[in-house]
Amino acid sequence: MSPIEDEQLRRRKLEEALEVKSLRRIISAYLNYPEAAEEDIKRYERCFRRLPLAHKALLSHLPLKFQKLRWCVSKNSYFIFEMLKAFDPPIDMSVDTDIAEDHAIENAPVQQLSSTEMNPHSCQPGSNITLLHNAKVDELRSGEDGLSGTPNPETLSEEKKIQSLSENVGNFSVASERNGMAQGGDVHSYQSATHCCDGHASPSPDWLDPSLQFHVPLADVDKVRCIIRNIVRDWAAEGQKERDECYRPILQELDRLFPDRSSDSSPPACLVPGAGLGRLALEISCLGFISQGNEFSYYMMICSSFILNYSQTSEEWNIYPWIHSNCNLLSDKDQLRPVSIPDIHPASAGITEGFSMCGGDFVEVYNDPSQVGAWDAVVTCFFLDTAHNIVEYIEIISKILKDGGVWINLGPLLYHFADAYNQEDEMSIELSLEDVKRVAFHHGFEIEKESTIATTYTTNQRSMMQNQYYAAFWTMRKKPPTPTSAPDAAAA
Ligand SMILES: C[S@@+](CC[C@H](N)C(=O)[O-])C[C@H]1O[C@@H](n2cnc3c(N)ncnc32)[C@H](O)[C@@H]1O
Repeated sequence: MSPIEDEQLRRRKLEEALEVKSLRRIISAYLNYPEAAEEDIKRYERCFRRLPLAHKALLSHLPLKFQKLRWCVSKNSYFIFEMLKAFDPPIDMSVDTDIAEDHAIENAPVQQLSSTEMNPHSCQPGSNITLLHNAKVDELRSGEDGLSGTPNPETLSEEKKIQSLSENVGNFSVASERNGMAQGGDVHSYQSATHCCDGHASPSPDWLDPSLQFHVPLADVDKVRCIIRNIVRDWAAEGQKERDECYRPILQELDRLFPDRSSDSSPPACLVPGAGLGRLALEISCLGFISQGNEFSYYMMICSSFILNYSQTSEEWNIYPWIHSNCNLLSDKDQLRPVSIPDIHPASAGITEGFSMCGGDFVEVYNDPSQVGAWDAVVTCFFLDTAHNIVEYIEIISKILKDGGVWINLGPLLYHFADAYNQEDEMSIELSLEDVKRVAFHHGFEIEKESTIATTYTTNQRSMMQNQYYAAFWTMRKKPPTPTSAPDAAAA
């Protein structure tokens, strides 16, 4: 083996080890959930014990409440564990990760993987979670250089390093074959749930062995709590208000713009970047579109895959999403209330052919020649502000749309990487709405409709605090290029 091949092999192994480490870390975050919650409850108890007797007497119901909280945590943990058991890791979890440790010692910054997901606004919509690498892009690269084309870890940003989770999570497949839409990404079409699992008590896979798990920073466990709140937004009756505010206007717009989608010809194709837990993409499929959700967070994908592929009935699970905050409660009952999920049985919801979820970074997956002009519609909901460089997002949206295609957007501009303290070199381009629109016009869009929508994001409807967004909602159409309007011509 030549020294170059040797180095390439070493790098590939390193990337593989980093992938496994990253995924183990996410799984560990899920598994650390009960312990972290128990720590909180113990803290409440310690504080209670420090009260003077007279105060304790006034609040004598609290010890029972703490026990109830424990019980709720155990129910959430059960759901999480069943979800993990259903997860089929796309990479070999038994891979020896020592090489990643060695590399971390040699290259101290790599070790800081744990700091990649800074999230200044916990549970706010801009809160991106761990990244998922696009395996297909690696495949494409490997075609070029015979090996993986693995990026040089030394030159990667911290974020890119954690991105090296390859492959996808779900096993979505109604058509039992790959949907060919996103050739740049790893696509899994949706699979009817009826034959996926036959009860809640299946054995644990090897990779869930406690010896492979480790303690993660509390910030990681916070992401698990955020996912639980996202489940309410997408998959509970309680989330209907937010879905009515955010998803319904988008669905109505799609319905208005594509009235002929049930004709003999192929239905229109709609892409949903940053699809979260997949409800909007599912609803778009139910309208008769070829619908593809794109998502790069394994936290999200593990959960959406479970709900989409493994739900047996509606209201199969009771979870307790609100137990982790004692603030702004009108009553303990509100905090301890169960939420049934999913509100619908996904397999019976009327999904049409071509529904898929594509794992990977939107920029990596869709900035691929195969994607040019591939989509009739792109829907971004609470997604644009997740960009490091929003101009790049808009550029790609324009490229992948057909001429005359539509871009429907709804969301605020709470730039995720703004205020990225501790991460001095974190790229973040933060534009005003006015500038965002200017960039869109430059890329050949014209506005057809525009309004503001007041809405919340993963908010506890019974809380005394309701963060309200005045989200921008628009429909833009990509004009066919003319010699004077084409961006390239303008640049020339
Ligand atoms: C604020 S959430 C919105 C989720 C969903 N659209 C909704 O309205 O509930 C943004 C989502 O985009 C995902 N995301 C962020 N950056 C991404 C990227 N570059 N590629 C793909 N997904 C991304 C995040 O993981 C997160 O699930």
